[in-house]
Amino acid sequence: MSERSCEPKRIIVTGGAGFIGSNFVHWVVENQPGVHVTVLDALTYAGNRANLDGISADRMTFVHGDICDATLVDQLMTDADAVVHFAAESHNDNSITDPAPFVRTNVEGTFTLLEAARKHGTRFHHISTDEVYGDLALDDPARFTEETPYCPSSPYSSSKASSDMLVRAWHRTYGVDATISNCSNNYGPRQHIEKFIPRQITNILSSNRPKLYGDGLNVRDWIHTEDHSSAVWEILTRGRSGETYLIGADGERNNIDVLRAILEAMGKSADDFDWVRDRPGHDRRYAIDSAKLRRELGWQPKRTDFAQGLAETIQWYTDNPKWWRGAKEAVEAKYAAQGQ
Ligand SMILES: NC(=O)c1ccc[n+]([C@@H]2O[C@H](COP(=O)([O-])OP(=O)(O)OC[C@H]3O[C@@H](n4cnc5c(N)ncnc54)[C@H](O)[C@@H]3O)[C@@H](O)[C@H]2O)c1
Repeated sequence: MSERSCEPKRIIVTGGAGFIGSNFVHWVVENQPGVHVTVLDALTYAGNRANLDGISADRMTFVHGDICDATLVDQLMTDADAVVHFAAESHNDNSITDPAPFVRTNVEGTFTLLEAARKHGTRFHHISTDEVYGDLALDDPARFTEETPYCPSSPYSSSKASSDMLVRAWHRTYGVDATISNCSNNYGPRQHIEKFIPRQITNILSSNRPKLYGDGLNVRDWIHTEDHSSAVWEILTRGRSGETYLIGADGERNNIDVLRAILEAMGKSADDFDWVRDRPGHDRRYAIDSAKLRRELGWQPKRTDFAQGLAETIQWYTDNPKWWRGAKEAVEAKYAAQGQ
């Protein structure tokens, strides 16, 4: 493990047309004037080229391609100082119905990128999730730390845990200059409407009743995606090689409280929703202790006013119906087939 300062000028962002990746690309373009971004994205159902609209060609190049394509990845890596790896299959419910793409993209894709980073000596930052740690009991005061043992519950979280292990091994065995961050649940603009918060917002905007899993008491630790972006930049440029950093903004809330906050903000009554069947193996509670990131790198979240962030997110979906309406019917039909 070594102290390091990296000032990348040309970075590859995998999955940069997805939710968190595109928010990160916008953040870099706005906050890091000297940096050029190459987005590598396969534009799966979750990727949307329009998420990068408004970014000029001198700041960003878009490459439509697959992270499992070793020839393409090798070619892109010849001209990059660093890779920030967001690309993934990211939705737990999908991983339960069809786990194969999760193993392919999340495990094989990460392997492909690591091999190219090893060959070209490229700095590698891997984006992961707090879900690799499994879950905590509702009455347990503990939070996840970098020392918490891995205990993933779903095909999604186990594929992410596997990719984290590959990154650790490629650092230790081959000396790849790599860091990992495990972040809690993100919210903000441009999140696919299959995910909890945008699903509820777009249900209300479509005059459907929102749907709540199980008993609604499952706790998630919410962070605004802009805070995730600033944390990733700090780790990419100043994090210690070989280290893992947990990213969180002390935003623990249970699902029913989040849904009621959405209902209230959108002028609905607190009981205006349907209870639906729980997700199999549904993790009870996630909570992040991000003390290491704050202590070592001085990072602080800025977007911690959840009501304000939620109001802006609701406004974004209200203002951008073209972005989500085309997918709405299919997303709800898929959930309905699962009794959700
Ligand atoms: N959403 C969250 O709350 C959260 C929290 C912590 C960590 N993460 C992690 O952050 C990353 C991004 O999550 P997200 O919610 O933005 O996901 P997303 O599903 O919105 O976006 C994923 C992107 O990856 C692209 N992609 C998928 N397979 C690909 C492939 N084989 N090659 C190239 N591109 C491919 C998709 O087209 C899409 O643009 C993931 O690694 C996820 O595990 C997400």
